[in-house]
Amino acid sequence: MPSGKNEWWRDAVIYQVYPRSFSDSNADGIGDIPGILSRVDYLANLGVDAIWISPFYDSPLLDGGYDVSDFRLVDPRLGVVADVEDLIRAAHAKGVKLFMDIVPNHTSSAHAWFHEVLNSEPGSPAWDRYVIKEGKGAGHEFPPTNWQSVFHGDAWSPLVLANGVKTKYWYLHIFDSSQPDLNWENSEVRAEFEDILKFWFDLGIDGFRIDVAHGLIKDQTFPDIDYGAAREKGLLGAPILSPFWDQDGVHEVYRSWRKIADSYQPPKVFCGETSAPSPERLALYQRPDELHTSFNFHYLRAGFDAIRLKDSVDSTLLNHRKVGAPATWVLSNHDIVRHATRLAPGQSDQPTVMPTPDNADRGVARARAATLFTLGLPGSTYLYQGEELGLPEVLDLPGEARQDPVWFRTGGKEIGRDGCRVPLPWSGDLPSYGFGSGENSWLPQPHSWEHLSVQAQESGDTTLNFYRAALAKRREELATGDGELQWRMGEFTTPNDSILAYRRPHPVSPLTCLMNTTGEMWSAPHSFGTQVVVASGPEVAIVDSGDGEHLVLGPETSVWVRG
Ligand code: NOJ
Ligand code: CA
Repeated sequence: MPSGKNEWWRDAVIYQVYPRSFSDSNADGIGDIPGILSRVDYLANLGVDAIWISPFYDSPLLDGGYDVSDFRLVDPRLGVVADVEDLIRAAHAKGVKLFMDIVPNHTSSAHAWFHEVLNSEPGSPAWDRYVIKEGKGAGHEFPPTNWQSVFHGDAWSPLVLANGVKTKYWYLHIFDSSQPDLNWENSEVRAEFEDILKFWFDLGIDGFRIDVAHGLIKDQTFPDIDYGAAREKGLLGAPILSPFWDQDGVHEVYRSWRKIADSYQPPKVFCGETSAPSPERLALYQRPDELHTSFNFHYLRAGFDAIRLKDSVDSTLLNHRKVGAPATWVLSNHDIVRHATRLAPGQSDQPTVMPTPDNADRGVARARAATLFTLGLPGSTYLYQGEELGLPEVLDLPGEARQDPVWFRTGGKEIGRDGCRVPLPWSGDLPSYGFGSGENSWLPQPHSWEHLSVQAQESGDTTLNFYRAALAKRREELATGDGELQWRMGEFTTPNDSILAYRRPHPVSPLTCLMNTTGEMWSAPHSFGTQVVVASGPEVAIVDSGDGEHLVLGPETSVWVRG
């Protein structure tokens, strides 16, 4: 059922900026807010509706800025609050909305609140803002539970006061030990985050992506986890059913946040980074008085597999419609292997498993096909910076350059997420390829990136021009909110159900998306017509084989046709 509602976020294309790696205005090798400002025209011309910027708050950067030491300050390496105001103005002048990232599950250990803990007596009010418990064992030498950090190792660390006194207490950190978890049972914590939301909303930010939105509330009985039984893994590898994920109490937090968002005109918008154990549980976060949207990580685990993609689309749409919310779709972000590499034949579908450098060309072709398939679906779509250039995951970063806590906490056994965070190539034939005015970039760029820069892709059949065309057509042709989708596979038979076809109905200009996931050419039946709107690759032809013209689709190619 089409929603009939025309709120902009129901079918928006939102571009994720990872600020340290996007554009560097002062040649120190670190992308910054003025750098983003200088690229607003590029993003508006690309055709996105909104920009979401990963955290740029004051931070020791032990987890790429997801370790926040002050939620009302900008990291001085990235700019100042006034730069954010300038950016909001510039984006709005181009009709582009701006989302920030809020990180409510934890603070940095450098946050003033955690300093208060370390400088106060056990049991002081400051302690109640974090999840702190007595250790087990006669000498309290064991952690309170067996919970494991998402970044590996124990999720608890001993609490040692600023004066060096070792206590019998441990603090919880579901992520790095520099990211103590906040205690959302504490009313001061709730009030503080509501105030932070208002601070940035008042400045003109249009919405927030919510980090680990399914975290926050912990099972207050603090049970151990049966890790042997907990097989299903979430996006970053932690079991999806845990006493610290998706607890019912978290919905109360978002009901209260929604009231704040709705008190603005126009209303502000939320997108949760929500990993739920099922599409049904995920949809609960999008009830009308909670979050507007959430990421849909089931979909990006479906690989380049027609059956799994279709199943994911069906269950996503079904469950979102039950609560009247639009679906969201995403193929890449700053935590997972870039889809131009991940979707290559022979790679793991699991977005955090490190790939091998095989079949790179087919990876890009498949990524473009998957992108066009995704952009046609009802709902909103998230793009990750650099995917419009077909950037691959960088697999050979030197150990000394790596910065992801996953790399450090596993002693280098897991290389972590730096490979999708390498600064963008904009122009020129030498590093930093226009990322900054000099050669510095905080992670080294591969030499092959000269051919992948924005400048190098300005003309011809490039991935950048494909994205521009697809986004322009989406805006012109598919401005139907989060409306209907009708599968059309009943009109043909293919081996292994490897071709997908769906129609987006429209009274005047219906559109059909076809995706060929096979390595062979495929001739579409006449019923699909021959009016190509946009194609993901060059191998699309109109052929007359004696019985009239019909569409022939190349291997691993998607196309939108009229009708
Ligand atoms: C999810 C973020 O996307 C990731 O980058 C971060 O490390 C964790 N949350 C912890 O904040
Ligand atoms: Ca800089």
